[in-house]
Amino acid sequence: MTVGGTSTKKLVAEQIRVHFEGVKAVDGIDLELEHGQIMGLIGPNGAGKTTFMNAVSHFVGRTTGRIILDGVDVTKLAPHQLAARGLVRTFQDVATFPELTVFENVELGALGSGLNRRKARQRAWELIESLDLSHLAALPSSALPHGDERRVGIARAVAVNPKYLLLDEPAAGLDDDESLQLADTIAKIRDEIGCGVLLVEHDMRIIFKVCERIQVIDFGKPLAVGTPDEIRNNSSVIEAYLGVKGAETAKGHHSA
Ligand SMILES: Nc1ncnc2c1ncn2[C@@H]1O[C@H](COP(=O)(O)OP(=O)(O)OP(=O)(O)O)[C@@H](O)[C@H]1O
Ligand SMILES: [Mg+2]
Repeated sequence: MTVGGTSTKKLVAEQIRVHFEGVKAVDGIDLELEHGQIMGLIGPNGAGKTTFMNAVSHFVGRTTGRIILDGVDVTKLAPHQLAARGLVRTFQDVATFPELTVFENVELGALGSGLNRRKARQRAWELIESLDLSHLAALPSSALPHGDERRVGIARAVAVNPKYLLLDEPAAGLDDDESLQLADTIAKIRDEIGCGVLLVEHDMRIIFKVCERIQVIDFGKPLAVGTPDEIRNNSSVIEAYLGVKGAETAKGHHSA
């Protein structure tokens, strides 16, 4: 079913609520994510970021609200049906298949999008090249440093051909160089694949480097949404999450 007459190329979540026994983990969060845009989703530990992502990609029951993908109400679809329509997510610990090579890992994602073997191989090569992973293609992913393995996991998700890619803390546990390289990879995905990216991340250098818009949540509720400039200067956001030091870090990382 098509919804309304408004511009349809976006992922919209309306008034998402997820209540566990006694815990209002997500309590009325909206989202509007456009193609070719990176939206940061930030907030303190336990704010409800992962639960919100789970709700949008339908990995939790007890969710209320509405999800509209490119103008179509998909609220009632199962996760695999959402994936087939281009909503793809990674988990807090992006894992690869350690015994498979980098190429095979990415190829698996492409096969998962329904391409035949020949087309899947072609798509995997294209992605590996554009994400600067060619020199690693023949290595088993177990042989990779942490940062490269993370980028391979993301390349595999991108191979599924997402219109909207939801990334949960892709830089967790990476060192400084690896984190900045990952930020470049995410920006490249936006620029070359053109999908919308919802990025949950505690590393404010990455958030303020790559996001066009940022949404802040706290205790499951919306706190602020705006441009990086608006967010880094928002006194409620500084108080609830960034702190003075975080705001300074944010000021040093202007989006391109
Ligand atoms: N399955 C569950 N059952 C009960 N409570 C849960 C469940 N999953 C999450 N919660 C609670 O919901 C709240 C939000 O958790 P969530 O993991 O979404 O936060 P988060 O913002 O992703 O935190 P972090 O930054 O630490 O990853 C927390 O209070 C958490 O304890
Ligand atoms: Mg989380």
